[in-house]
Amino acid sequence: MILVTGGAGFIGGNFVLDWLKIPSNEAVINLDKLTYAGNLATLESLEGDSRHIFVHGDIGDKDLIDRLLVQYQPRAIVNFAAESHVDRSIHGPAEFIHTNIVGTFHLLESALAYWKSLEGSAKEQFRFHHVSTDEVYGSLSLTDPAFTETHAYEPNSPYSASKAASDHLVRAWFHTYGFPVVTTNCSNNYGPYHFPEKLIPLVILNALNSKPLPIYGDGQQIRDWLFVGDHCSAIREVLARGKLGETYNIGGWNEKANIDVVRTICTILDELKPRVDGRSYAEQITYVTDRPGHDRRYAIDAGKIERELGWRPAETFDSGIKKTIEWYLDNPAWIDGVVSGSYRDWLKKQYD
Ligand code: NAD
Ligand code: DAU
Repeated sequence: MILVTGGAGFIGGNFVLDWLKIPSNEAVINLDKLTYAGNLATLESLEGDSRHIFVHGDIGDKDLIDRLLVQYQPRAIVNFAAESHVDRSIHGPAEFIHTNIVGTFHLLESALAYWKSLEGSAKEQFRFHHVSTDEVYGSLSLTDPAFTETHAYEPNSPYSASKAASDHLVRAWFHTYGFPVVTTNCSNNYGPYHFPEKLIPLVILNALNSKPLPIYGDGQQIRDWLFVGDHCSAIREVLARGKLGETYNIGGWNEKANIDVVRTICTILDELKPRVDGRSYAEQITYVTDRPGHDRRYAIDAGKIERELGWRPAETFDSGIKKTIEWYLDNPAWIDGVVSGSYRDWLKKQYD
């Protein structure tokens, strides 16, 4: 068994679905608090599959985690659970501190006690895989080299500061207690089941609903984009063969300015689902107030994971974004499920 936390969210959900598609892989205990970002509809195709055990709970609930570890004896924990949206962290950082820092601390405490209780090969093979972000490294200028694993931590938002703190805890548990950890720092993901508060799904849905496509500031901020299935395959590699105590950057070699990402989405939608008036979706682009403290550029040097583990992304941005847009066009029921009252309240707070 493996224990996945946050497996009803965007990346965790994709990871669980992909993991269980591989027949030789073990069963998954999926622990998720089901915050606004957790969605069981993402896991609907696993209904009746005995290899998927869903548990509704908090990574900070030590008693629950202790019980689960004793009961299921997982050979690995993959920790996706987090508050993940930068804009929400600006409006209300408390939940980010609670889950990303304190929650990770409690999870580490339980996992360490469990690991200490193991013996022989079970103890040797156990892994704690912490899923983190490139945002912990801060912001780059246009001419800076991409982030390597040795780049200083310079987080700039409450979200990235909380993720940085959790990375430090994980690192300390390795150095102090010899606890077997690996950490991955990944760039911006996109793909199916992405909650539509993040740029790419928000723009796709707003375009189709004749709403403005909000571009913060001048739209020239740069992100590296990775198709979510590639992130999942990279995590599987690191979990299987990553060196203990190491960190691995994961990226798509796909740096793009936000405005170019949005224009690309408009062009693909113009082909796949033209507007009834025959005009381009690009006409809906609207420049809005910038995000406070908005990081200018992220870029990932994913050379280490390629050299040491032979992993490279399979999708280009062109192939991945087309698949993603097609998925949103083909899955209106999933979208209707997430576009709830609380989602509408968030849009009002953020964009009005
Ligand atoms: P998400 O917000 O879509 O999902 C997070 C999931 O965690 C949700 O299902 C939520 O219910 C669950 N959760 C939140 N608090 C919890 C708690 N206390 N206990 C148990 N479950 C809890 O996030 P995501 O985009 O899927 O990101 C997953 C992880 O990957 C995060 O750690 C994030 O920092 C990291 N990451 C994300 C990206 C990205 O582009 N989305 C890139 C790099 C790294
Ligand atoms: O870099 C990895 C990170 O990527 C992850 O750690 C985070 O969990 C994930 O949310 C993502 O953070 P970003 O802030 O980069 O993603 P977001 O989709 O919110 O924004 C992408 C870029 O688009 C960013 O420069 C802000 C901009 N943006 C975003 C929204 C929601 C807009 O211009 N308009 C918008 O409405």
